[in-house]
This record gives sequence, C-alpha cells and structure tokens, in this order.
Amino acid sequence: MLAGQNELNTRVQRPRTKRVGDTAGPVEQTLQRFPRMRYMGSKFRLLGWIHEATANLEFGSVLDAFSGSSVVSYLFKAAGKRVTSNDSLNFSHTLAQALVANASVELPAADVQRLLVPVPDGPTFIRDTFSGIFFTDDDLAFLDRVWGQLTAFRSLHKRAIVISSLIRACAKRQPRGVFTVAGDPERYKDARRDLRLSLEEHFLEGVQIFNAAVFDNGQENRALRGDVFDIDPVGHDLVYLDPPYVPRSDDNCYVKRYHFLEGVSCYWKGLEILQDTRVKKIRKPFTPFAYRKTAVDAFTRMFERFEKSALVLSYSSNGYPDLEELVRLMKRVKQRVSVLERPHRYHFGTHAAAKRNAVTEYLILGQ
Ligand SMILES: C[S@@+](CC[C@H](N)C(=O)[O-])C[C@H]1O[C@@H](n2cnc3c(N)ncnc32)[C@H](O)[C@@H]1O
Repeated sequence: MLAGQNELNTRVQRPRTKRVGDTAGPVEQTLQRFPRMRYMGSKFRLLGWIHEATANLEFGSVLDAFSGSSVVSYLFKAAGKRVTSNDSLNFSHTLAQALVANASVELPAADVQRLLVPVPDGPTFIRDTFSGIFFTDDDLAFLDRVWGQLTAFRSLHKRAIVISSLIRACAKRQPRGVFTVAGDPERYKDARRDLRLSLEEHFLEGVQIFNAAVFDNGQENRALRGDVFDIDPVGHDLVYLDPPYVPRSDDNCYVKRYHFLEGVSCYWKGLEILQDTRVKKIRKPFTPFAYRKTAVDAFTRMFERFEKSALVLSYSSNGYPDLEELVRLMKRVKQRVSVLERPHRYHFGTHAAAKRNAVTEYLILGQ
C-alpha cells in the first residue's frame, strides 16, 4: 500500500502509460521541436503524463517555479497557457528566455557568421582558465570568440539563442553532460558523435535547433531568474513545483554538476571561481531544498506562498521529505489533495547508478 494512502484519505491513481509522441496532437507535435539536453531531474519523459494530469484543470496562466531545462514550461506554452518560467540558475533562465519568453525572434545566418569572426585582442578568459580541463584549446578559444562578439548584440532573445546554443554545445560535448571531473580533452577523437564534434560544430547545429523551437502561442510569456521565495505569487492560476529533493544518497547539487554551463551563460561575470578545485568550480548558492534540516520548512513556506493558486508538485519516491509528509503539508493550504503515480527511471549518471534511479514518480495536486 502506498504510504499514507488510507490515513490521509488521499486518492491515488494508478499509472497509464502514454508518452509524448504516442499521439500526434498539436501539443505533442510542438514538443518534438524542444531542444533535448541532459538535465538532472528533467521531466522530458514524463511530459505526456503531466499534460494528461493537468488537462482537466481549468487554468489560463501557469508558473513553472523551478524550470530547469524549461521543458515543462514549453509543454504549457504548447498547450496555449500564459507561462512564467523561473529558476535560480542563470543558464536555466537563459534557456527559458530562448524557448518560452521568445515568441518570434530567430538568429539569422548573417549573425551566426559574425559570431565566428575573431575579435582583435578579444577576451581569452575561458582558454586561460580552463585549458586542459574539459575541452581542447581550440574549443575554448571558440567560446571566447563568440563571447567577444556577443557583447555587441543588443536583442535579448538573439543573445538567449546564442547562449543557449553554447550551453547545449558544452553539455553535449561533455561525457554524461556533467562537469564534476576533469577529462582528457584530446581523448574523444574516436568516440560517439556528440563527443567527436567540436564545440563550434555543435553550436552551429544548436542554433538551427533553437531557431526551429521558437513559436508564438499568442500569450505574453515571461522568464524570471530568482529564488522561488522572491516570485510574486499573484496572477498564476496554477503553480507547477519541481524543486530539488534531499536525496537518500549522493547529493542534488546543480552547481557542482553544471558550474561550467552556468559560467558560460554569463562569461563567469559575478561568479566566484573556487581556484583550489581541479575543475574550477563556482561557489554554490544556498537553497533550503537541499538539506534535511531546512527542507520541511521550505515546503511549508512555499505552499503558503502560492496557496491562492492550484498546485501541482512533482516528487520522486527517493526524496526527502516523504510523500505522506508532503501531502500533509499541502493539505494545510488546500482542501482537495490527490496523488498520481507512475514508475520512472531517471537516465542520469553511470550505467550502474541508473539502476538505483528506478523510482516511483508522483504528481501531488492541490485545489
Ligand atoms: C528538479 S530541477 C527542475 C527540472 C525541470 N522541471 C525540468 O523538467 O527540466 C530543480 C531546479 O530547481 C532550481 N532551484 C533550486 N533551488 C531553487 C530555488 N530556491 N529557487 C528557484 N529555483 C531553484 C535548480 O536550479 C533546478 O534547475
């Protein structure tokens, strides 16, 4: 029996297996254009389920408060909602600017050509700092070159497409898409395509993919960057919450894994590099969702903050607090709380670790 099912008098619905792509409706067709990227905790493979679970709720506007890869925001945008995306990380925010807030701006070929031209005496920070750690010197010089040209770009959305394409290029070119350990940048010459292509080749491909993903859903969609507790709670019919959970083992630190992507999204401006770390990590910001001591209070305050909206919380069985506790907390602010569940396997980490990643995925709905 599901923990707390009877005690909490909560309706638990058994899974139906329907994935994005199973049907060819307009929402599913739009989702095919989403630029896929590995992202810890990404709900990409759960989109069909989330879509189905929210389809019967009445809402015109939605806040995706922990947008990550932006894929859930993109789903709601495809479904015609007015979307506000938020994440505390700048690189996640940049993806949302390119994919969610941007209704029509693409990056033309002439701009792409301009970005590839070296700037005389241009910046060399990336090559100077990261030589020999993740990428070849040519790859690093390419990143410096693009950033050298990018300072002259004024259009927010064009900049977002450029930076998103750099982010995608770096994530694809890096084994497992994470930046926790240094590798030998020269050793991937015979590896699979993603590791073989240069950052420039990935970038050129990425621009096409991001351009093709731009669409207008007739709404004023927004991308915010900040802490969930700083978001104005007014004006969202529905709030989708997908925070990091305190894991039973390992950790859930996004900055440890993605520090390079965060850096490349702003040319490390304002970020503190921890110089004594081998991979030149940046200092991680505090989030109360990462620690047992602070997580329960954080969920309590978050539910209270958004109590005027319908709530949808994503949760995995391997997290803390447990399902029973989360349902209890949501019931403090919502009269009707229901739980949907389905088995899921997060494809993240090594093959051996993937076994541990078989979880039950829940959606906790509060109305
Ligand atoms: C589980 S991921 C979200 C995944 C996303 N739904 C997707 O499908 O790609 C959690 C996100 O919460 C962000 N985050 C962590 N603490 C935060 C906070 N206090 N406020 C806002 N965002 C936060 C992280 O940067 C991370 O992107």
